[in-house]
This record gives sequence, C-alpha cells and structure tokens, in this order.
Amino acid sequence: MNTNGNKRPDDMQRITTPELANAFIEEKVAEIKAQVGDGKVLLALSGGVDSSVVAALLIRAIGKNLVCVHVNHGLLRKGEPEQVVEVFRNQMDANLVYVDAVDRFLSKLEGVAEPEQKRKIIGAEFIRVFEEEARKQEGVDFLAQGTIYPDILESGTVKAHHNVGGLPEDLKFELVEPVKLLFKDEVRVVGKALGLPDSMVYRQPFPGPGLGVRCLGAITRDRLEMVRESDAILREEFAANGFEGKVWQYFTIVPDFKSVGVRDGKRTFERPVIIRAVNTTDAMTAEVEEVPYPLLKRIAARITAEVPGVNRVVYDLTAKPPGTIEWE
Ligand code: XMP
Repeated sequence: MNTNGNKRPDDMQRITTPELANAFIEEKVAEIKAQVGDGKVLLALSGGVDSSVVAALLIRAIGKNLVCVHVNHGLLRKGEPEQVVEVFRNQMDANLVYVDAVDRFLSKLEGVAEPEQKRKIIGAEFIRVFEEEARKQEGVDFLAQGTIYPDILESGTVKAHHNVGGLPEDLKFELVEPVKLLFKDEVRVVGKALGLPDSMVYRQPFPGPGLGVRCLGAITRDRLEMVRESDAILREEFAANGFEGKVWQYFTIVPDFKSVGVRDGKRTFERPVIIRAVNTTDAMTAEVEEVPYPLLKRIAARITAEVPGVNRVVYDLTAKPPGTIEWE
C-alpha cells in the first residue's frame, strides 16, 4: 500500500488496536530509516499529542540523530515543559534541546492587547526561535512535523502556525511526516503503543498561542500565573471527578479588569477567573458542559483560596455560536 502521498488510500485500515499500532510503528520505523539513513532530523516538540508521537517514532527509528527542540514560550500549562523533559530526555534518552524563551516572548508581547496581533507575535517569534536553534545544528537535512490527516484536509486553518512552515528560504529541509495520514484517534493509539504517558496521549486540544489568548488583553506575568494556576486546579478537579476524558476542552480565562470582593473582613479589588468547559465534534459549534454545581463550587472555592490575586470565579454558559470556544 502506498502511504507516502498526501491522500489516504481508500483501503487503509483504521488503527484501533495495539496490534495494528505496532504494525504501523514497524512499517514507519523502516520507512524513516530508509528515508533518513544516517542523516539528522530536527523536530519542534511542543509536547502535544502529534509532535510527541512523531518524536517517539523517530527516536525508535534513528535515536540520537533526531534533535528535538522544545521552545518554552511561557504560555504553556503548568507542568508541561517539565513533562517534555522528563518523558523525552530522562525516560526516552532523546537528544532534546530545551529553549527557555519565556522572557523573550513576554517582552515581545508587552503592551499588546489585540488578540490577532498577539497570535501573530507568538507565531512569528516561535519561528524565529526555532530558526536560531536550527542554525546552531550542523548537518541537519530533514525536518519532522506532526502533521495529521485533518491538517491536510483543512490545510491553511487554525493550526497553520503550529507547523514550522514559515522558515526562511535558505533553511531548506526534506520533510518527514510519519503520521500525516492518521486521524487523531489513531495517533493516540500509536502514542499509547509507543509507551507515551496517558496524560500526553489523551490530552485535550491546546491552541498554539496557548495561555496567551486566555490572559485577556495585554499579558502580564501576574495574570498569566493566575491563568496557569487556576487551569491546573480545574484540570486536577476534573481528573479527580471523572470529567477528564468526558469533556472535550476545559480551561480558565483571566480578564484584564478587577472586581470588588471581601476577605477576612477587608475589601479586596482583584481579578475574576472565568471557567469554560465545552463539548464539540469539529470545534465549529460547541455546547457547554453541564458541570454539577457542587463540583463547580468546589473549584471556585479552591481557586479563590489558592490563587493569589483572585477573588471571584464565574462559569461561562455560552454555546458556540454565538460565543467562540476561546475568549480571544
Ligand atoms: P474558537 O475559539 O475559534 O476555537 O471557537 C476553536 C478551536 O480552535 C482552538 N484555537 C486555536 N488553535 N491556534 C490554534 O492552534 C489558534 O490561534 C487557535 N485559536 C483557537 C481552540 O482552542 C478551539 O479548540
């Protein structure tokens, strides 16, 4: 079966079991070895499902000839950069370049309040950081990407800036895209068979600009921490109460205004946190998850008690349309 083109063959079997995943892995490992030989391959490893599965496949095929670059732009969820280092460097012994670009991104974003402008800055800066790392590497001829079949079907959509398509002309690489004919559920089955942790394989979708579009308006470090900490509490509570695999996407948002509250008998003037939890099949429309009140109240109590600077929590009841899933 020819699985090198960009069209999924009609007779290609869906990968639904560990056995089918293992057969796919064996086939792809052989293909990657044949394509790359002793060459070096570069990969932007975000820690999302697709790039993680591609990394694990390439590590199996070519080991240290894969150079993974993880750019921490400061807009990742709590614990994500640490997990990438733990899984890929410590457990899989990968050749991982960890780039701490937090200050760089946050200073570029300083004072920028317009959502599309924020997205452009994050996307452009990502390419610049990755390009700098690519230039430091010697003898790299290949670029691996976590393109999946829906990306090909809907090319040019929201995910475009995720893929490192904006590299300068003189950095020409041959592409290695081992999961480009797979659907998301198949990528997850393959990831599981490759030994990646469930928290990576079954992770909810996360936008390229990350927490940057959930810290509304001009990003500040203190509000960004409020987003990160409240999101971590929401995820923890959803996981503990059986909502983790049930709800399609759930996260918190911190706006750029304050509201009045009271704590220990004293007036406060602090930030609200907005909780959003939605279900969808294609992200074009979405319904709000009917989270039980006791759980919502518990999450609200924890966020106001544990996240400094937050005195109020609200739940977003808006479907898409008329709302969008993200607030920016
Ligand atoms: P909206 O907010 O448009 O979101 O209803 C639909 C889905 O797309 C994700 N999203 C993005 N993903 N880059 C991405 O990679 C982006 O700029 C971006 N904006 C929104 C959002 O999280 C939701 O899953």
